[in-house]
Amino acid sequence: MMSSASSSAKPTIATSSAHAVPSYLNADSLGPWGIYLQQIDRVTPYLGSLARWVETLKRPKRALIVDVPIELDNGTIAHYEGYRVQHNTSRGPGKGGVRFHQDVTLSEVMALSAWMSVKNAAVNVPYGGAKGGIRVDPRTLSRAELERLTRRYTSEINIIIGPNKDIPAPDVNTNEQVMAWMMDTYSMNSGSTSTGVVTGKPISLGGSLGRREATGRGVFVVGSEAARNLGLDIAGARVAVQGFGNVGSVAAKLFHEAGAKVVAVQDHRTSLYEPAGFDVPALIEHVANNGTIEGFRAETVSSAQFWEVDCDILIPAALEGQITAENAPRIKARMVIEGANGPTTPEADDILRERNILVAPDVIANAGGVTVSYFEWVQDFSSFFWTEEEINQRLVRIMQEAFRSIWQVAQENKVTLRTAAFIVACSRILQAREVRGLYP
Ligand SMILES: NC(=O)c1ccc[n+]([C@@H]2O[C@H](COP(=O)([O-])OP(=O)(O)OC[C@H]3O[C@@H](n4cnc5c(N)ncnc54)[C@H](O)[C@@H]3O)[C@@H](O)[C@H]2O)c1
Repeated sequence: MMSSASSSAKPTIATSSAHAVPSYLNADSLGPWGIYLQQIDRVTPYLGSLARWVETLKRPKRALIVDVPIELDNGTIAHYEGYRVQHNTSRGPGKGGVRFHQDVTLSEVMALSAWMSVKNAAVNVPYGGAKGGIRVDPRTLSRAELERLTRRYTSEINIIIGPNKDIPAPDVNTNEQVMAWMMDTYSMNSGSTSTGVVTGKPISLGGSLGRREATGRGVFVVGSEAARNLGLDIAGARVAVQGFGNVGSVAAKLFHEAGAKVVAVQDHRTSLYEPAGFDVPALIEHVANNGTIEGFRAETVSSAQFWEVDCDILIPAALEGQITAENAPRIKARMVIEGANGPTTPEADDILRERNILVAPDVIANAGGVTVSYFEWVQDFSSFFWTEEEINQRLVRIMQEAFRSIWQVAQENKVTLRTAAFIVACSRILQAREVRGLYP
């Protein structure tokens, strides 16, 4: 007898105790991937006839799980879980970062890969979405161990990446050096130097000027546009930033330079409050020397107090799931600019909307990084490199245009900016899916 799952048009989700591991189509208890599925359900009513194709977005095209064994400096053999997920490649090759973090899961990498599909379509760069990660705390590894880990991981995912197939980039705890090792390993395996296989490389190796600052710069551009629409002056605005790494520190620096006051910062070690506004360049130098904001001269506050701080602009720039139903009712900001991927849960999103707090969603607010990654990839292919000024001008133009069109869609449909960004992006992905057709 055929099961109901195979006979009905809409797949039924197996929930019986016989299936200890639920289907990935079951949004409950699936972590970040479940949140993404809920976001797709929210946008589906706005997709018109393209909704026929929406199941495409609920299934990653390809997910690779790899074992990454390395010999540690002390002679023992350690194994790490590695992932590379290509969520959708309808609009072009997969594109998305690689994360090294002790909490990496398949659900997280799937969600991050899907958000990359949406992001790349939202800013209209010609990529699908992908993401990778290794479940490891890189702070526990020596530099030599980190290099061995990166090279073995790259070798294992070598079968699905490539300049025309899937192009990794940095994410949490990965940087230019990690990208250089990835590029070198891929090149060694393929027999010729292939700069276009990863972006976020060192400048000396085909990297792009402006790439390191691009995500934070995009956060600033989107924040400035959103502030203008709300009639909020950036000069004098109070800003709180969670996460003071690549994204958070650059965004903080640009807001600081524009006359805003960065009044609160949080990282994995502590939360600091400075009502008069931090000396942001000094704080950046402190983090460069110490690896954390901890120890910088300012008032230390609890994590709960950080979320309640009196500010105009709140920038989550650390990890996903940070703004929740628990802390959203106490947020005082007028707007949230999502530097991190997936920092706001759907319940928190609803609470912020009810409280009239504007949320500039990740898929647009942090798209500056992938936009300059796109510039890097184009420059690598042509072996012709642009000036930093040209790069920043093009970045600002793309980000402003994308934000303005999404703002307009939000106004027309009376929906949040997140739903509007998903309407624009999912329509683009599904139009590509439709005109390409199914094979065979
Ligand atoms: N780097 C990029 O170009 C880029 C592009 C798009 C999106 N993002 C997203 O931005 C976020 C930050 O990425 P990044 O590249 O700046 O990473 P990073 O590793 O440079 O910095 C991460 C920061 O978050 C802090 N942090 C970690 N765990 C925390 C916790 N539990 N509570 C508070 N702070 C915590 C760390 O201390 C650090 O300051 C991630 O969600 C990433 O996916 C990054």
